[in-house]
Amino acid sequence: MKTVKMTVDKAFVVAPVDERIYGSFIEHLGRAVYGGICQPDHESADSDGFRRDVMELVKELNVPVIRYPGGNFVSNFFWEDSVGPLSERKARLDLAWRSLEPNTFGLGEFAKWTEKVNTEIMMAVNLGTRGIADACNLLEYCNHPSGTKYSDLRRKHGIENPYNIKLWCLGNEMDGEWQIGRKTMEEYGRLSEETAKAMKLMDPSIELVSCGSSFKDMPTFPQWEAETLEHNYDYVDYISLHQYYGNAAGDSRDYLAQSDDMEEFIHTVVSVCDFVKAKKRSRKTINLSFDEWNVWFHSKQEEEDITKNRPWQTAPALLEDHYTFEDALMVGLMMITLLKNADRVKIACLAQLVNVIAPIMTDEKGGAWRQTIYYPFLHASRYGRGKVLQTVCISPVHETSGHGAVTDIVSVAVYSEEKEELTVFAVNRNLDENHSLEIDIRSFEGYGIIEKIQMTSEDLTAENTLTEERVKPYISKDIKADSGKVETILEKASWNVIRLGKKQ
Ligand code: AHR
Repeated sequence: MKTVKMTVDKAFVVAPVDERIYGSFIEHLGRAVYGGICQPDHESADSDGFRRDVMELVKELNVPVIRYPGGNFVSNFFWEDSVGPLSERKARLDLAWRSLEPNTFGLGEFAKWTEKVNTEIMMAVNLGTRGIADACNLLEYCNHPSGTKYSDLRRKHGIENPYNIKLWCLGNEMDGEWQIGRKTMEEYGRLSEETAKAMKLMDPSIELVSCGSSFKDMPTFPQWEAETLEHNYDYVDYISLHQYYGNAAGDSRDYLAQSDDMEEFIHTVVSVCDFVKAKKRSRKTINLSFDEWNVWFHSKQEEEDITKNRPWQTAPALLEDHYTFEDALMVGLMMITLLKNADRVKIACLAQLVNVIAPIMTDEKGGAWRQTIYYPFLHASRYGRGKVLQTVCISPVHETSGHGAVTDIVSVAVYSEEKEELTVFAVNRNLDENHSLEIDIRSFEGYGIIEKIQMTSEDLTAENTLTEERVKPYISKDIKADSGKVETILEKASWNVIRLGKKQ
């Protein structure tokens, strides 16, 4: 067994973790809304028709912000259709997912639900088929107190106080050929600049996210980022990144190496933001909103079949990936990558939250259950609040088919001064070898072990279901701390949460 040496020192702070890095996403897509968060005829439904079993799991994840209502859906979304008396709402065709949107759940219902699960809304405006005026009307409806057409419409709908939504996305994936109302760089640059300018005139307290490329391999990446930011730099606060990974090739080693691509993606976008900053002689820094990230590949065929051959259903089972143990490792790796870059990644949304490429699944007649990927996200959200520390980790490497030699260990440390706790998150992505880990924590005087949480499996393809939880965390006793040194084993293919704290 090889020994991996890691040093963590409380003096070497990368950045405080912006808690919005534990955000998520609910889109009007598949069974995310209808049959997911809202199902009035379910036995667990509350008086608003919201599933209590789902709310409990969402609260457990402690998600501070949720992006809504899309996604691709937003690019032909008419928000007015989703508010006001239910009896007057009309169904519409959702062109993004070729589904029928009944509009029985809309902005008002979502706002109510977010209050119940203690989260904030990250609202997206339609810059596909609509533009500046409609974005402003929606903002007026949401954030203006009263005395205007749309603020009074909100009050007429029974909502006296403004929603005060602080975070807004200027469209979604506007470079994608699948997007309704796709734009060129020039078109989006100008449209987002003028929309952002108008929205900030109406409410200067909001923060705005400019659309970056749909993913790293888009042909116009990173020129899209450079050109669009050159237009809207003065008015926006963040640029978005989206990325999904998958093991379509059935090559687990190479699959788990893909978090290195994510790291490179983040660094490139940071460089482009800073290039535009330099070019503009600006004092302002644009930060990153990684507002769609996850594993997505299992359900692609069903998705194609439904959208092509069986369109216009209400809440069809779209994008229902059933995640495996190795997907949980991948989500852990991606979460660590986001945390390592906490100096620039201020917002991140695990896409999505319920039923659609989600950590939480529901059974129409039965309960709600946790997918494998639920756990690394839960652990990070629960124990990864504080300051990210720069760790030094000398890891062995292994060869992969597409990424060359990659490190076996990927890790990050988060220090909560307030709680006097230090947490090290680590994945051993070597599928064959256990490693012994030695962590030098001499700067954390008087710290000892709280617990070590671990996830391992003999079967990389193990999944959870409604009735059987094959992949779940457990406490490992195999850890000791003495004289500023922590020693443990990082088992092959494992997710590890090493929790240390000041001894009382
Ligand atoms: O999250 C699913 C879809 O992925 C979103 O609607 C879109 O923005 C992205 O392509």
